[in-house]
Amino acid sequence: MRIQRIASKWQKTQILLQGPHLQVYIPETQKFSLENLNTMIHKYGLVYIKPDRGTYGQGVMSAEYNGPLTSDTSPQAEPQVPQIQEPSPLPPSYKHRYGVQTQTYLSIDELYAVLIHKIQGREYLIQQGIDMLTYQRRKFDLRVLVQKNLKGEWETTGYIGRVAAHQKIITNHHGGGTALPIEHLLGPHMNERQLQLMIQELRQIGTLVGYQLQSAYPRLKELGLDVAVDAGFKAWILEVNTLPALFPFKELKDKNIYKRIRKYAIHYGRFSRSRSASFR
Ligand SMILES: Nc1ncnc2c1ncn2[C@@H]1O[C@H](COP(=O)(O)OP(=O)(O)O)[C@@H](O)[C@H]1O
Ligand SMILES: [Mg+2]
Repeated sequence: MRIQRIASKWQKTQILLQGPHLQVYIPETQKFSLENLNTMIHKYGLVYIKPDRGTYGQGVMSAEYNGPLTSDTSPQAEPQVPQIQEPSPLPPSYKHRYGVQTQTYLSIDELYAVLIHKIQGREYLIQQGIDMLTYQRRKFDLRVLVQKNLKGEWETTGYIGRVAAHQKIITNHHGGGTALPIEHLLGPHMNERQLQLMIQELRQIGTLVGYQLQSAYPRLKELGLDVAVDAGFKAWILEVNTLPALFPFKELKDKNIYKRIRKYAIHYGRFSRSRSASFR
């Protein structure tokens, strides 16, 4: 039987949100519209705008609001004592990033017009942007590979870090990103114990996602999670791929990792001829 592949990020996100333990890992995700752009950019400051059925980081954009956030208007944020008049701040602005290009606009309507022009009628999502940790001033995220093992259980079999090319907002290999061991990328940010806890959490997230998606898509066999880690070391699932690349794991020093990945993949038929035809 063919391995199941699901292209729609929206559909997969809806299933993940039904899993009680996974909600905390999912950045808010909505369908792209002016209303959702308006609400989310003023709530989070940073948003990502991406095709519902995209791959390789193609068509992924970000938008950033530079001004007071709606969540900052809580009573605690108000000053207790009258403040000395500060010089008036710069007017709020909106920064649009795509590839290595950056453009700044003074109104949300201008930003929306540019986004709509780029989107060209395709189905797009808007997602809470995660301010990722960096490595040598470049953003990085993690790829967590989860597979059905020989006993038919979901098992997290590999993880690797992906560093964005200079000035880029995406970490994908096809977008010029570089793969490095996660210890190498997380190491400078945390101590050994925090690192071990992080790895343990990634493993757990991987298997939870496997079982959750399987509840809706029973013929899944392998998944690649894109996980971002923020400055508070919170992990966020940016998306789940159902046709994950296996080759990056070949480069890891511990050769047993790729051996196991390959063994499981052969067992569930990844390399059989019907593979490419089964992606939808
Ligand atoms: N919400 C987000 N916050 C921060 N970075 C993101 C977000 N969504 C996507 N990205 C960046 O863009 C890349 C591509 O987005 P992704 O959702 O994985 O689409 P694709 O299917 O094209 O890989 C991610 O690997 C990550 O580097
Ligand atoms: Mg991705």
